[in-house]
Amino acid sequence: MTQSLLSLNGISRTTLESLFSLARALKKSPQKPEFLGQTAALMFFEPSTRTRLSFESACYRAGLGPLVFQAGAGTSMEKGETPEDTLANVAAMRPSVLIVRGDDDLPMLQLAQDFKIPFINAGWGCQGHPTQALLDVLTLQERRKVDGLKVVFVGDLRHSRVAASHLQIWPLFRGEVRFCGPASLLPEKPEVACFDTIDEALKWADVVITLRYQFERYDADEPRSAADHALQTEVRAKFALTRAHLARLPETTLILHPGPVNHGVELDTEVYRDRRSLILDQVSHGVWLREALLRMMLKGELK
Ligand code: NCD
Repeated sequence: MTQSLLSLNGISRTTLESLFSLARALKKSPQKPEFLGQTAALMFFEPSTRTRLSFESACYRAGLGPLVFQAGAGTSMEKGETPEDTLANVAAMRPSVLIVRGDDDLPMLQLAQDFKIPFINAGWGCQGHPTQALLDVLTLQERRKVDGLKVVFVGDLRHSRVAASHLQIWPLFRGEVRFCGPASLLPEKPEVACFDTIDEALKWADVVITLRYQFERYDADEPRSAADHALQTEVRAKFALTRAHLARLPETTLILHPGPVNHGVELDTEVYRDRRSLILDQVSHGVWLREALLRMMLKGELK
């Protein structure tokens, strides 16, 4: 059967441990490029920096030639080609794997089935971003035993595919996830307990994952600047991780952010640079994790 990673539902702890252990081995020393002469298609229909470049970097390390598509000027989408047609055409070139980012309307499950090519979700609307959750856990494992950790997400929970994927993975580690964010940006029916302010959340959490406010996904009918201004005032008062929090934050609390960071909105620059912040470690681990995933998937080892 073609191996794919569209969500983390149903992934086993054993698979995760093999993936993490290969990622740690690749971090220690590079392994031979196994897939020379093969290609990987990186198909990005939404903006990306970290995810796209770390997949690209992982491809080179594994010996796969990356074919990188970023929707926008210079592509046939300018001539009206749809994402589905664009994907079907690239799939017809038979790359060894498709790595795809797109909005909620992209029928990823259907496409993965139709193409019969290994398919990786590199960020799917608000539904999930499995490799980000995986690299986050790998990054945390370097610092702390992850079993039983208390993880709070702070920020825009309504649009966070990163939080959605974390909800699928933490039960395997008996961890507990909670949310904290403005009421208008919590899911309509949150699956987990929510804190009303970041101060309460920080008292509870071992790990704080701050999230960007995804202004580009907000209701297009609202006059944006007015909405953004009111929201930013509320965020700074109740939901930002600020310089002032650092002095009372326990030494063992770890701070993550999937990026991109809006300095001075959800997080202060001093927090970004604090010794408890793993934000750039996440980025480094993203390369090893994605390389491990590609190597295992293309050998059919992702059970
Ligand atoms: C995020 C994404 O695109 O889902 N970033 C990432 O991939 N590392 C989060 C965001 O856009 O805020």
